[in-house]
Amino acid sequence: MHHFDRIDGALHAEGVSLEALAEAVGTPAYVYSSATLTRHYGLLRAALDQHAGALGEGLIAFAVKANSNLSVLATLAQLGCGADTVSEGEIRRALAAGIPAGRIIFSGVGKSDAELAFAVETGVRQINVESGAELDRLIAVAADRHAAPAIAIRVNPKIGAGGHARITTGGATDKFGVPIEEAYDLYARASASPHLTPVGLACHIGSQITTLEPMETAFRTLREMTETLRAQGHSVTRLDLGGGLGVPYHGQTDLPSIADYAAMCARVLDGLDVEAAFEPGRLLAANAGVLLSRVIQVNERADGRRFLVLDAGMNDLMRPALYDAFHDLVPVRLREGEPAPYDLVGPICESTDVFARERMLPPIQAGDLVAFMSAGAYGAVLSSEYNSRPLVPEVLVNGDQVAVVRPRPSYAEMWAREPKADWL
Ligand code: LLP
Repeated sequence: MHHFDRIDGALHAEGVSLEALAEAVGTPAYVYSSATLTRHYGLLRAALDQHAGALGEGLIAFAVKANSNLSVLATLAQLGCGADTVSEGEIRRALAAGIPAGRIIFSGVGKSDAELAFAVETGVRQINVESGAELDRLIAVAADRHAAPAIAIRVNPKIGAGGHARITTGGATDKFGVPIEEAYDLYARASASPHLTPVGLACHIGSQITTLEPMETAFRTLREMTETLRAQGHSVTRLDLGGGLGVPYHGQTDLPSIADYAAMCARVLDGLDVEAAFEPGRLLAANAGVLLSRVIQVNERADGRRFLVLDAGMNDLMRPALYDAFHDLVPVRLREGEPAPYDLVGPICESTDVFARERMLPPIQAGDLVAFMSAGAYGAVLSSEYNSRPLVPEVLVNGDQVAVVRPRPSYAEMWAREPKADWL
C-alpha cells in the first residue's frame, strides 16, 4: 500500500501534485511519502507487538542502506525506529537523524579498525561480527578503549534466498557471515574475552524474498544454535533476524503479509526467551518512493520499435541495470488510446541504460511526466553523477507539505567538489 494516487486525473504524492512538483523541482527527482513510511513502520510494529511474548521488544532497525536520506531517517526515528548500519557514515547519519546509539546495529563484512573504534566509542547497541579476523580486531580495538561492546555473531546458514542471484547473501559461497561450526567457536572466543559481551546471533539471507520458507529454515537454525550455545554455558539473549521480506513490485498479491511474517518469527522463537531484532529496508521504504521523470522524446524506428527516451538514466535508478529489476512505469496523466509496447531507456551512453523492454504503455509523448513506482528503496542511494549528470534530488512529502531534502547540485557546486591540482 502506498500514498501515490490520482486526484483529478493527475498522480499525486499524498496531497501534492507530481505535475506541480516537477515544475518546482525539475526532473528527474525522487519523491517520498511520509504517510507510506509511517504506515509501513506502523504495520510492522503492530504485527511484532502482537507477538511480544515470543519476540520481546522486537526492535525494528531500518536498513539505512535502502534509503539513507536524513529526513527519511528522521521520519522513522520519530516513530521509534532503530537503524541497521554498515559503515561509519551510516552510523553518523542515523545519529544525525535522531536515532539513539542504543538502537543502532553495526553490521557489515568489512568494518575497518577505525569504524569499529567509532562504533565502540559511540556505544551502539550491538556489533554484528562476520568473521574470526574481525573478532580479533574488535577485541584489540575494545581492549584499547577498556570497553566490552555487545556483539552478535552473524551466521551464514547456507540458505541463500532473494529476488535475484545478485542479492542473495546467505548461500555457502556468499561472503557474508560465519559458517555454523565456526560460529560456535567464535562465540566461545568472544565469551572468553573480557573485552566483548556476546549477546546473540544474527542472520540475513537475502533480499526481496517472496516466500517465508527459507527464512523460517534459517531462523530455526538460529534457534537450534541458541539452544546448543546455552547448553555449552553461554548466554544468548538476542537474535537478529535481518531483513529481506519482499515487496510487490509487480502488484503481486501472493506475497507473505507482514502479519504472516511476524507470526512465523514468533512460531520459531516461541518459548526461547530472546529479544528479536529486525532489519527491514525495502519493506519500509520501497513503496514509499517514486522516481519522477519526463519523456525527452519518442524514437520510432522504421521496423516499428519504439524507444521512450527519459530524462532519468541508470545513474539515477540502477536497479534494472544491476539486477534486471522491474519497476512499474506510470504516466502522471493518462492519455486515451490503445496501449503499445515501448523500450524504456535513459540518456546514458551505455547499453545497460535500459529500464525495460517492450513495456505496454498508453499513448505517450515527448514532455509527458512518468513515475517509476516502488523506487524508495535502493534508488537514490545507488545514484551517481555518471555522465556528469547532477545528482538526482530527493523530495519528501507530508500531507500537502513539501521539502526538498536533497537539492539537485548546480554545476558550480559539482565543480567545487573537485579542486584543481595546483600545478594545472
Ligand atoms: N540487513 C543486512 C545485513 C543487509 O545486508 C540488508 C540488505 C538488509 C538488512 C536489508 O534488506 P532488505 O530488507 O532491504 O531486503 N540493492 C539491492 C538490495 C541489496 C540488499 C543488501 N542488503 C536491490 O536493490 O535489490
